[in-house]
Amino acid sequence: MEKIIVLDFGGQYNQLIARRVRECHVYAEVHSFTLGLDKIKEINPSGIIFTGGPQSVYAADSPQIDKEIFKLGIPILGICYGSQLIAHELGGKVATAPVSEYGKTEVNVEKDSGLFKDVSKTTTVWMSHTDYIEKAPEGFKITGNTPVCPIAAMENAAEKIYAVQFHPEVMHSVEGMKMLSAFVYDVCGCKGEWKMDSFVEKTIKEIREKVGNGKALCALSGGVDSSVAAVLMSKAIGKQLTCVFVDHGLLRKNEGDEVEEVFGPNGPYDLNFIRVDAKDRFYAKLAGVTEPEKKRKIIGEEFIRVFEEEAKKIGAVDFLVQGTIYPDVIESGLGKSAVIKSHHNVGGLPDCVDFKEIIEPLRMLFKDEVRKAGLELGIPEKLVFRQPFPGPGLGIRIIGDVTEEKVKIVQDADFIFREEVAKAGIDKELGQYFAALTNMRSVGVMGDFRTYDYAVALRAVHTADFMTADCAQIPWEVLQKTANRIVNEVKGVNRVLYDCTSKPPATIELE
Ligand code: XMP
Repeated sequence: MEKIIVLDFGGQYNQLIARRVRECHVYAEVHSFTLGLDKIKEINPSGIIFTGGPQSVYAADSPQIDKEIFKLGIPILGICYGSQLIAHELGGKVATAPVSEYGKTEVNVEKDSGLFKDVSKTTTVWMSHTDYIEKAPEGFKITGNTPVCPIAAMENAAEKIYAVQFHPEVMHSVEGMKMLSAFVYDVCGCKGEWKMDSFVEKTIKEIREKVGNGKALCALSGGVDSSVAAVLMSKAIGKQLTCVFVDHGLLRKNEGDEVEEVFGPNGPYDLNFIRVDAKDRFYAKLAGVTEPEKKRKIIGEEFIRVFEEEAKKIGAVDFLVQGTIYPDVIESGLGKSAVIKSHHNVGGLPDCVDFKEIIEPLRMLFKDEVRKAGLELGIPEKLVFRQPFPGPGLGIRIIGDVTEEKVKIVQDADFIFREEVAKAGIDKELGQYFAALTNMRSVGVMGDFRTYDYAVALRAVHTADFMTADCAQIPWEVLQKTANRIVNEVKGVNRVLYDCTSKPPATIELE
């Protein structure tokens, strides 16, 4: 399969570059800049892209690259730090720019460049740099400039080495996709074979070959990833697959039934489906626990225990299916950042199930590609475009201790909010939106009576990657209608608040 590798030098857009290349229908994967030459030769990519990065190439501890990479005959595109690294390594000069450029910038490009032939002579790009290339290495032609950045792009077409100071991968670079596409198709000679229909077909065939007559077990949450993984498996091996759906009693309203409708015996898929009603066990374990990390831990551990018991009933299986997706497996250039919350997913399962091998059919896919694969497989849109829902579920949307009564309140309030958002037709614009239950009770008046009830918090955010998020400006009428309905229809609530914080400093979930 044709492949481009993205060498990560710590830039914040590393995954985005890979996604953009994949949008050109060429498979791309991100590797740390430390990936050795031997490994690169083994992968034998059609092209290599160096990402940006936060450092100066001349700083003592800056990430470097083995110069031999330029002699492999593989086309290279350097972006931002990557472009400076090319200049630095090949005998050019990098220096602190007299004027830093941040944000949208007009760049003049040479139309006869391999990258810019389809691009306007002056085009808007996204810049973010304090260093610049002061002198191009020998053999390089300058192909782009801005008033304060004389070498905004350069190339050595004979050696197939290209460099751009700006970020073509970012949406604000208006013709950036044309540049990346020119690199991928014209310079690297790719044909564009990465398409979801062929991925689905190929993966089903591979699973079938791998599993043979064996048995596979899948922890199904009803989320997009595990659902798509389960359907791929089901299409490949039918009833040799068993899906276990643990209903921990912390799901959204009707969610358990909805999952059963799709995957259960009356649904369209050929598989064994086991729904475990474990809510009493979870509520018992959570009783009186208020500390968020402790709640997360309890839910994660209990989940594993329930799954383990079910797995034991089934007996030894050959394969354990996981819905791991590509962003979970990327090694980053400069190391990982701090853990703010311990995310619960099925990461703990391998220890508790007796199996021979793990199958991760979505390991190569980004989230949007998982969704495309889901549609390709005929999974209902409602499930494919479901908003993210955390593993610990409503357990972390109820501040303080969790009780069955509080779960019911938050389920009902959340259901109303989702209904009103959908009615207003704004659901597709929002990254995530939900109701949570604060543990604040306050005084209200209903009819002629004093009430002392809970306050529900509504949250809605816009986000591209869930790492940062902006509070969404939900139309006032929608909020008002939702608030009215919640206090009228949900017993135990007399106040509704809207959370207007962004992330950071808040997080998306309340715990
Ligand atoms: P935060 O609250 O950290 O959430 O801003 C970012 C995104 O992650 C989801 N989230 C989780 N997902 N297990 C998950 O699978 C978890 O434990 C978990 N905690 C938060 C959250 O819903 C949001 O989309």
